[in-house]
Amino acid sequence: MTRRRAGIVGTGSALPPTVLTNAYFESLPELRTSDQWIIEHTGIRERRKAAPGEGLSLYATEAAKRALEMANLAAEELDLIICGTFTPDVPIPGSSNLIQANLAAKRAAAFDLQAACSGFVYAAVVAQQFIETGKYRRVLAVGADLLSRVTDFTDRTTCILFGDGAGAVVMRDVEPEFGILASNIHSDGAQGQFLTVPAGGSLLPASHETVEQRLHFVRMEGKATFKIAVRSMERSAEDALRQAGYGVEDVKLFIAHQANKRISDAVVDRLGLSPDRVYENIERVGNTSAGSIPIALDEAVRQGRVRQGDLVLLTAFGGGLTWGSVLLRWAIK
Ligand code: UT7
Repeated sequence: MTRRRAGIVGTGSALPPTVLTNAYFESLPELRTSDQWIIEHTGIRERRKAAPGEGLSLYATEAAKRALEMANLAAEELDLIICGTFTPDVPIPGSSNLIQANLAAKRAAAFDLQAACSGFVYAAVVAQQFIETGKYRRVLAVGADLLSRVTDFTDRTTCILFGDGAGAVVMRDVEPEFGILASNIHSDGAQGQFLTVPAGGSLLPASHETVEQRLHFVRMEGKATFKIAVRSMERSAEDALRQAGYGVEDVKLFIAHQANKRISDAVVDRLGLSPDRVYENIERVGNTSAGSIPIALDEAVRQGRVRQGDLVLLTAFGGGLTWGSVLLRWAIK
């Protein structure tokens, strides 16, 4: 079978309108935090928060509609919807199924994929496989999380980081000079304990005790995660470039998972990338987990930061632990 090239032909994103600035956290005396600490240690000034009663698929559907519009594709033409998330609306049905219903994408198969903050890159790489083998031609890859739903607002080491948001891309078969040139995904489950949500699964189902013990919130060993994130993202980005036969100087746009500005700055520095090739939005949206890369990509695309033929490098890292990269030659004019 002739292998085809999978490319991104549309991007979209959606953020809740409610803004939580650092001043909000500063105003909670029990947190003993400040605007200055948050900016110096994370680069974040504000993040978004979904309203009560809103679920992930609301924002994911909005992002998907924008991506479909840019791709000039009708929802009925989609063959597959993959939603990378660890904060689905409900355990069943999957948010991918809810997005499918909202879009009336009747022909599409749909499933959720859980790779925490790497969810979008994992979804894009899975979509790439289906497109390259010719099984499916048009795939919607979503990365979205409502982290505020699993954030312990009494834990100052995590609550200042997280934000809500959704991003989506339409992927399809493209001319062989465009599309994904190299990709990799990785996991190290042996280090999974550094970033967990302890309860709410089959091991510790929800109970009064798990709620009282605040076990449904994200727990993170920040320092350990920080170090592994920098090393893993650097290696993954380099591997993608090496696999496709390019150097960092060829990259026109680099987007790293927006976990902490100090993490992405360290990755950019170690790769030797020129800062004018990097797009960041952590200052305005915080860490949106699986939403992080597709939201930033959509903003960069709509700001005219990427042109047809440009090399784009996307590198993620998250709980699992998981990480990975996608290197692509931009297909959209
Ligand atoms: O998206 C998935 C991947 N996520 C990541 O990769 C995140 C990785 N980690 C981080 O972003 C950072 O490690 C944090 C932002 C979580 C923490 O920053 P840090 O510079 O590594 O701080 P630290 O953990 O070394 O803590 C330094 C001090 C501690 O106080 P003591 O023990 O020195 O007295 C913390 O208790 O800062 C304290 N601290 C705070 N102080 C004010 C921690 N959080 C805060 C806070 N405000 N919000």
